[in-house]
Amino acid sequence: MSEILIDEKVLATCKGKVVVITGAANGIGAATVSRFFHSGAHVFFSDRDEKGGGALEKHLQESLAPGDGTCNFTRVDARDYQAQLALFDTAYKEHGCVDMAVYSAGINEMAATGSIVAAENNLETVKEYPKLIMDLLDINLNGCIYFARIALAYLHAGSDNSQLPSKCLLTLISSAAAFQEAPGMPGYAASKVGILGLMRSIRSLAPKMCNTRVNVIAPWATDTAMVEGHTRLFTENNIPLQSPDDVAVFTQYVTADPVINGKTVYVGAARGFDIEEGLDRTLPQWLGQVNADLWKRQARAFAKGDWLRSDKIGNASH
Ligand SMILES: NC(=O)c1ccc[n+]([C@@H]2O[C@H](COP(=O)([O-])OP(=O)(O)OC[C@H]3O[C@@H](n4cnc5c(N)ncnc54)[C@H](O)[C@@H]3O)[C@@H](O)[C@H]2O)c1
Repeated sequence: MSEILIDEKVLATCKGKVVVITGAANGIGAATVSRFFHSGAHVFFSDRDEKGGGALEKHLQESLAPGDGTCNFTRVDARDYQAQLALFDTAYKEHGCVDMAVYSAGINEMAATGSIVAAENNLETVKEYPKLIMDLLDINLNGCIYFARIALAYLHAGSDNSQLPSKCLLTLISSAAAFQEAPGMPGYAASKVGILGLMRSIRSLAPKMCNTRVNVIAPWATDTAMVEGHTRLFTENNIPLQSPDDVAVFTQYVTADPVINGKTVYVGAARGFDIEEGLDRTLPQWLGQVNADLWKRQARAFAKGDWLRSDKIGNASH
């Protein structure tokens, strides 16, 4: 078990950093914006919810206290590649660098009709294009891929290549649904597994090629609009939901940590655990020694010999 423990000194290093956050007008993203802002960072955040984003920007600016940073909201639909690019460009032009980036935009399909497995599906309804699920994949996964591609270019462009491990960080919000069963949410679960795959495929390369480390946050059920309408199930079964800030503090911590790379931090009951370390450590137990060895050798070969993972460049429990 590898628990991530919050170190306030690490959070304080966000002062003066330039941070881009997408999907941040509400919920976990909004709580993350507030945390970075109150730590003294320059936060450029976006969302398709113009009203919510504008209200958050106004609230933060009106409550400005000594030590706070700056914040700047732009309406961006995460499905729009050029709009995402423009957000990074604004931050870069204003400060000459982008230090950190967090992708939090997402929707779920709990209430969506047209699912893959649905009682109403039949030979007639199946003729209809599953727009809702495809739309979800565009936001949750394609938007995240756009974001990661743009972020790595901008983070690298403004970074100090002499600093190792790099101070540039990319954090992607996935979900516990990426590695636990999520009945009735096939599109959502697929999109969140996709984010995990994205992170795992770039974590060995991004530190060297883009001077950027990359990690995933995988929240468990959190009290935001996303679970609205289902809160009764939690209360009736005496399952307390964690707050958006419970997740935001780990998001900020992982994004500010001086060494970690390639982690998937599960956040549940307001505690954070790296699941990658456990998977790596127990590989021979669930794959057998021969396959575990082969798999590691292949991973190293594909990473061009540079397996820049947490076991090599630092550990969250430092
Ligand atoms: N709440 C949970 O229980 C939970 C659990 C696991 C993972 N997550 C993930 O956390 C992230 C944040 O979700 P949340 O719980 O804060 O929900 P939320 O609904 O409060 O926030 C999601 C934000 O994404 C924005 N968004 C949606 N579509 C967009 C688009 N096309 N372009 C730009 N912005 C868009 C929304 O406007 C909203 O502000 C999501 O990726 C979600 O999948 C949430």
